[in-house]
Amino acid sequence: MRFAEITDRVDLARKKQEFQANLIHELKTPLTAVSGFIEALEEENLSPEGKSYLAIIKRNTGRLNRLIEDLARLSELEEAGEKLEKERVNLAEIVQSVVKIYGPQAAKKGLTLKVNQEPLVTIEADPFLLEQLVINLVDNAIRYTEQGGITISLQNKNQGVEMEVADTGLGLAEEQLPRIFERFYVVDKSRSRKTGGTGLGLAIVKHIILLHQGKISVRSAPGAGTAFIVWLPEKQPE
Ligand SMILES: Nc1ncnc2c1ncn2[C@@H]1O[C@H](COP(=O)(O)OP(=O)(O)OP(=O)(O)O)[C@@H](O)[C@H]1O
Ligand SMILES: [Mg+2]
Repeated sequence: MRFAEITDRVDLARKKQEFQANLIHELKTPLTAVSGFIEALEEENLSPEGKSYLAIIKRNTGRLNRLIEDLARLSELEEAGEKLEKERVNLAEIVQSVVKIYGPQAAKKGLTLKVNQEPLVTIEADPFLLEQLVINLVDNAIRYTEQGGITISLQNKNQGVEMEVADTGLGLAEEQLPRIFERFYVVDKSRSRKTGGTGLGLAIVKHIILLHQGKISVRSAPGAGTAFIVWLPEKQPE
């Protein structure tokens, strides 16, 4: 009896996963068509009013695209389970490339973006997922900081590497800390709407770390900035 119950539940979870994957796929197809025609319309001779409407359509389509991409990534990560595409990765190289991408965005807000590091050991990891992890943390740090800057520190620690992404931004209240890794959780809805956040970034971060058998912790206080501390093991258990 109990056995049947568990099987049912596993089956339900699998069905839910399949449904989600199909839904994401079905959403992508029409959105690709819409994006294509937006580009075509941009070539047309529109009135100033038409142009301003098109800009709004384009911005919102972009948001929808990002949302669907994030949902697709989460769905993939949940499905991937044990199957991690691992190779020997130097986290410092990934951080450097992300800093290059985000440098202009930080500069535009008048924020500094620095890296402190010692020579790092290489770790067994999926480089694409690690880049996504660093991007999501740096993106948040820049988005939720108005003054000062972001410092990324890298060091070898406990047979692995530790990365700290610290900002001098808005910070978070203690009661918010356990919730920020939930999907769709945003601390301040009006702020997130303005900055275009949907609350999936940190849920993706959590999944990437779990998949690598790593750890994440956060240190923050309102007005005193936020630091995310990530530890990743050098070797993945066989
Ligand atoms: N560095 C930070 N400083 C202050 N608040 C943060 C920071 N990082 C995350 N948060 C808070 O945690 C919430 C969840 O973050 P998360 O990255 O999951 O979502 P998001 O940034 O709102 O949207 P998305 O990343 O999906 O575009 C954010 O809405 C924000 O309020
Ligand atoms: Mg985010």
